[in-house]
Amino acid sequence: MRLRDNALLLTVALAAIVLLAGLSGQVAAGIAAALAVFVAALAPRAGPARQEAKAPTLAAAAPDNLPSGSELAAAIADPLILADRHGVVIFANAAASLAFGRVHPGELVALRFRSPEMQELIEAALSGMAVRPVDYGERVPIERSFKVSVTRIGEDGRFALHFRDQSETRRIDRMRADFIANASHELRTPLASISGFIETLRGPARNDAEARERFLQIMHTQTGRMARLIDDLLSLSRLEMKPLAGAGTTVDLVALAREVTDSLGQMIRENEMALELDLPAEPVFVLANADEIVQVVENLVENACKYGQSGKRLDIALSNDEEEASLSVRDHGPGIPAEHIPRVTERFYRVDVETSRAQKGTGLGLAIVKHILTRHKGRLTIRSAPGEGATFTLHLPLAKDPTTR
Ligand SMILES: Nc1ncnc2c1ncn2[C@@H]1O[C@H](COP(=O)(O)OP(=O)(O)O)[C@@H](O)[C@H]1O
Ligand SMILES: [Mg+2]
Repeated sequence: MRLRDNALLLTVALAAIVLLAGLSGQVAAGIAAALAVFVAALAPRAGPARQEAKAPTLAAAAPDNLPSGSELAAAIADPLILADRHGVVIFANAAASLAFGRVHPGELVALRFRSPEMQELIEAALSGMAVRPVDYGERVPIERSFKVSVTRIGEDGRFALHFRDQSETRRIDRMRADFIANASHELRTPLASISGFIETLRGPARNDAEARERFLQIMHTQTGRMARLIDDLLSLSRLEMKPLAGAGTTVDLVALAREVTDSLGQMIRENEMALELDLPAEPVFVLANADEIVQVVENLVENACKYGQSGKRLDIALSNDEEEASLSVRDHGPGIPAEHIPRVTERFYRVDVETSRAQKGTGLGLAIVKHILTRHKGRLTIRSAPGEGATFTLHLPLAKDPTTR
């Protein structure tokens, strides 16, 4: 009987927590379903005659199959701690121990969570006052933040603390804010320059034909820069709208590499780079969106021309093993210092902003490359040592059966 009472209390508490915390999608659905079964199994106590008449087999079979209240609490993916009316821990689920280290029954919750907000929350819980969820942060071993809500269980002062991990949401919020700040800054710089020249043309340079020509040229360059930035931003946003590339078509990387080097031939020649193509005689098939892979290879070849021009050589090689194709673009320029390599695929990250600007860069090229490859279940590897050039290699899974289209 007592076990059942406890189980019922836990169930009600868990239901309240699920409702209060608005757990995300599948977890909430799973827990809700478990609760529904659980409450149904406990229902016969309220009206045994009616229940038995309707579903005798379920009622008979239920007690063996259904989880206990603590089993349910253990199954919740969020940290959950139950305490008695003195604030002493009665139960902590595995997620709580994983998040905060072992939480032992018998210890005081107030000693475990010492932030002022948590102290207030626990005090309110002990005095039976209703309180809003509070934010709670942990710094060790990594920075995490939680939204903590408290729910009273039954009439004897027990309560449950439910922690919802907000770290990922916070990280995404921060990234979004950074991204908007960066994009605005990148657009504002050319805009400020254009508006400055308009002022000069209206005022001091009004009758100076030579200056007018020069300023219009600069304004033209700046509008080009804004247009490139907007194109890249739109590319990124289009890619983000559909994170998976879909089925794709069978694409021959040998032909694709030739196509890109042909179309960028002029640029390669203008940079006085000698192109060395090392392509297999047989086609190498991958399942892909051909336009997107062209965009990837173009980006890498353009970067090699822009930043590795001094090396005078450009090597493009394609190889494959049983699983994947690897296409590498190698230059012999100054290369990338080791500490920058992991970051060059971040949006707006540039080793040297001035060089990138002078080369008409936006800082988004490699972010787009990485995005496209991830959509294709592929990846990008970067090898470089200062003074020895850089090798960017894209890896894509081979199409299993090249005859299917
Ligand atoms: N082949 C390369 N050699 C040296 N540095 C490179 C090379 N490719 C990329 N980088 C560095 O990575 C940065 C980011 O590249 P990318 O995302 O294409 O932006 P962008 O070219 O528009 O600046 C570049 O600004 C440059 O500093
Ligand atoms: Mg680039």
